[in-house]
Amino acid sequence: MFGLAKSSTLRARGVMGMNQRNISYIARYNDRSLYPNVDNKLRTKELALEEGIAVPDLLGTVSYQHDVEEVFDMLPKDQGFCIKPSKGSGGKGILVITSRDENGFMKASGSYVQEQDIVRHISNILAGLFSLGGDADVAMVEALIEFDPIFAGYSHEGVPDIRLIVFKGYPVMAMLRLATHASDGKANLHQGAVGVGLDITTGNAISAVQYSELVTHHPDTDKVLRDISIENWRSLMTLASKCYEVSGLGYLGVDLVLDKHRGPLVLELNARPGLAIQIANQKGMLENLRHIESLKLRRALNVEQRIDYVLENFAVGR
Ligand SMILES: Nc1ncnc2c1ncn2[C@@H]1O[C@H](COP(=O)(O)OP(=O)(O)O)[C@@H](O)[C@H]1O
Ligand SMILES: [Mg+2]
Repeated sequence: MFGLAKSSTLRARGVMGMNQRNISYIARYNDRSLYPNVDNKLRTKELALEEGIAVPDLLGTVSYQHDVEEVFDMLPKDQGFCIKPSKGSGGKGILVITSRDENGFMKASGSYVQEQDIVRHISNILAGLFSLGGDADVAMVEALIEFDPIFAGYSHEGVPDIRLIVFKGYPVMAMLRLATHASDGKANLHQGAVGVGLDITTGNAISAVQYSELVTHHPDTDKVLRDISIENWRSLMTLASKCYEVSGLGYLGVDLVLDKHRGPLVLELNARPGLAIQIANQKGMLENLRHIESLKLRRALNVEQRIDYVLENFAVGR
């Protein structure tokens, strides 16, 4: 089984391990001074908007405990919303509310929370409970992303996102993450979401995992995961590739969502993207990374040229 194979076997398959990622890629290609661009979701939003890149709408922020009650003025009356820590990761501290009625605020799973739960949640965010290094944080209120109907039946009770690993501006590997009942409205693998490896040149599903085990069907809806194919794939590759210039990071995880009304949006950027994407793809990413490292170009390529290059050179099965 891929997830449990010996490390020598994994190396032979070009699978990158944690130490190698940290030393040979993150430390070498990601300038530490640029981390705040991506470790703080508010900053990432600003940078993306400056570059004309669409992001989920920010409805407001709460920075201080004595202002927590102000959140109720920010919340839309007849639409859903999402409250998240600006320095969070891995889906921690994310509260997705899809609607509200006389019973309170309804979560993606169908269960309800009340005003006092929201107050407590925001206090926890401000105290740094979910944030990198436990730093004091800011709570962000975002408009609810309404996912594209092409994912109906594939993502259960939550918005799916598409993760691309972008190396020196070239997309090298991709995965679709689908929410499950277990993941409670979030598409993070550690929360129990399903990861579907996608052919980086076509957006067609290759294989899928949940909790590092191969799966063929969505655990809640039973839909066949292999049938997934993302439309307009090139436009998503292009959007992800642009985030290289936005962030300045050489080894980057770009998370995109497809909003029903607004189209592709950049949800967040990551300077230390996880390695499970290789399990979802049943393939290591070292081959593509080394291919890009070995390029000898007289001048750097622009975004469209980089995408052309990937389409020509990284088709699965070559
Ligand atoms: N505005 C939103 N509307 C609906 N779902 C959201 C929203 N923001 C985040 N989510 C859900 O939560 C997951 C994690 O959000 P993200 O912003 O990527 O934070 P993290 O850094 O913790 O991964 C997303 O993949 C998505 O499933
Ligand atoms: Mg994320």
